[in-house]
Amino acid sequence: MDHFLYRHGQLHAEEVPLTEIAQAVGTPFYCYSTATLTRHFRLFDEALEGLEHLVCYAMKAASNQAIIRTLAALGAGMDVVSGGEYARARAAGVPGERIVFSGVGKTRDEMRAALAGGVRQFNVESEPELDLLNAVALEMGLRAPITIRVNPDVDARTHAKIATGKSENKFGIPIGRAREVYARAAALPGLDVVGVDVHIGSQLTDLEPFRQAYEKVADLTGLLRADGHDIRRLDLGGGLGIPYARSNEAPPLPTEYGALIRETLGHLGCEIEIEPGRLVAGNAGLLVSRVLYVKSGEGRDFLIIDGAMNDLIRPAMYDAHHDIVPVNEPPPGAEQVPYDVVGPVCETGDTFARARMMPELSPGDLVAFRSAGAYGAVMASEYNTRPLVPEVLVNEHQFAVIRARPTFDEMINRDTIPRWL
Ligand code: LLP
Repeated sequence: MDHFLYRHGQLHAEEVPLTEIAQAVGTPFYCYSTATLTRHFRLFDEALEGLEHLVCYAMKAASNQAIIRTLAALGAGMDVVSGGEYARARAAGVPGERIVFSGVGKTRDEMRAALAGGVRQFNVESEPELDLLNAVALEMGLRAPITIRVNPDVDARTHAKIATGKSENKFGIPIGRAREVYARAAALPGLDVVGVDVHIGSQLTDLEPFRQAYEKVADLTGLLRADGHDIRRLDLGGGLGIPYARSNEAPPLPTEYGALIRETLGHLGCEIEIEPGRLVAGNAGLLVSRVLYVKSGEGRDFLIIDGAMNDLIRPAMYDAHHDIVPVNEPPPGAEQVPYDVVGPVCETGDTFARARMMPELSPGDLVAFRSAGAYGAVMASEYNTRPLVPEVLVNEHQFAVIRARPTFDEMINRDTIPRWL
């Protein structure tokens, strides 16, 4: 459920008509709903009630300061994957003890920054990373809290580009080698081994792969404890999917996911961390764009809009489906016509949908891409020197621009001319 509904014939974000925001900000823009962000965070928090837990929002999904602040105020921790995300989390007021640092290629500088500013744990992904983190911590006279990310060799049954839990993927340490690597970590004086980490992929629409992974983590936890490690924390990653095509998708609910965690891992008495990104932010955001032209092609009509692949890359990159709806509510029973929905970028890949059935649209009409709040604005670029797409946050009847559209001058002036030119 989200808070983008038609009222009086107009799509609203909470109490605000999207046409009003479009008038103030121009198009395209991202629009987020505070109530939806809040609701989705709470769903996870409540799903783990009774277990000691921390929901660490995977900031990579949408990392605007205003979004992080909104979630942090509800008690969220953060999952960060770069020095930049760490700095963003701290700038938004998230205390270090609520930040977990993930990622397969952490640098020495990132380790130093997180150790200096405070960190809940590093999720370590390789043996060389263990050695480097140990060295950095010792240089600073500290001990770094760590988990080791294990790769359980489970098929997440999702798009190949976002599956991470198979042995051929670059992530984690093969679970079969975990005991050996934990023994090595425990011998390093700059490290404090606190738990186990796993993340098998994103946009999972079935609980079975989670079950397989978490059962393996439960078995491993028993073995590691028998080996003498004080495993007190389990980080279970993110990955729960959302319904992109609302008419025919119904992925599992956070409550069902929570029940699975309880069932597979509850008996271990560990503190549970989860790192959801998409399910928190995805349906809390829309991309709003304006129709520029309707062009008749050979056997098809193109709806040419002012949003493009640089603003929302998911269709081009993952063949992702986003529902696209008119902002003006179509009359009941309105005739539907097929459109190829495309942007202005000079690539055929700049296509959002093919033969999509939609009510008839005209130049000037606004359309909204649903479920665009996660991996939307954060993956945007200025390709074709199109200004980085702005972001707006709505809270009941108020809205605020939380990232402004840069001017052409701002964009151009980021370049510098070398002396010889
Ligand atoms: N934890 C780790 C270690 C991750 O790598 C990810 C996502 C998450 C948590 C959050 O997963 P989520 O709950 O959002 O599924 N750009 C792609 C998705 C990439 C996901 C990368 N890792 C897309 O647009 O579909």
